[in-house]
Amino acid sequence: MKNIAVLISGGGSNLQSIIDAIESREIKGKISVVISNKENAYGLERARKHNIKAVFLNDEREIINELKKNEVDLIVLAGFLKILSSEFTNSFENKIINIHPSLIPSFCGKGFYGLKVHQAAIDYGVKVSGATVHFVDENADTGAIIAQDTVEVYPEDSAEDLQKKVLEIEHKILKKVVKDFCDDKIRKKDRVVFIDK
Ligand code: GRF
Repeated sequence: MKNIAVLISGGGSNLQSIIDAIESREIKGKISVVISNKENAYGLERARKHNIKAVFLNDEREIINELKKNEVDLIVLAGFLKILSSEFTNSFENKIINIHPSLIPSFCGKGFYGLKVHQAAIDYGVKVSGATVHFVDENADTGAIIAQDTVEVYPEDSAEDLQKKVLEIEHKILKKVVKDFCDDKIRKKDRVVFIDK
């Protein structure tokens, strides 16, 4: 059974979708630890409610040590708002995934997080947006794309309206990727990711 670590900085609704999918046996894996770089992140509370080890760590070296101590097979960045060094990403190559609330390569990279992503999409006038799960490499939001799904954007939508629609898609595609990773169905060739049926 794969050991999963989830790194958060906020509310943890993506974390919750993984917890629920594990408890319903949809995902054959175990969350060994939830780490937040924000001491008051509600996601830590979500983990504790499900008897999952939840720790506040803000120092990258301490985070790396905690991950190694838990012998994690998969690291899920779920609203983790800290840029990881190349030492970190190289230590866990092809084992770190991130959920981003747009269709990468649009509206991503430095400075694109939270509501800012959706406001940029609204201001651009896109008709479709969505979410992306991707491998994490040493740059922001540039790793190979694993899964994407879309939502329609209406002219009257606010950034909050779009955020709400996209968050539902995030929960769906993130838990599917975690499931596929735990089932060893994901392979990567250069930038192209294959998921076995
Ligand atoms: C999500 O929108 C995710 O795409 C972004 O941060 C947000 C985290 O939300 N990276 P939550 O903490 O999982 O509710």
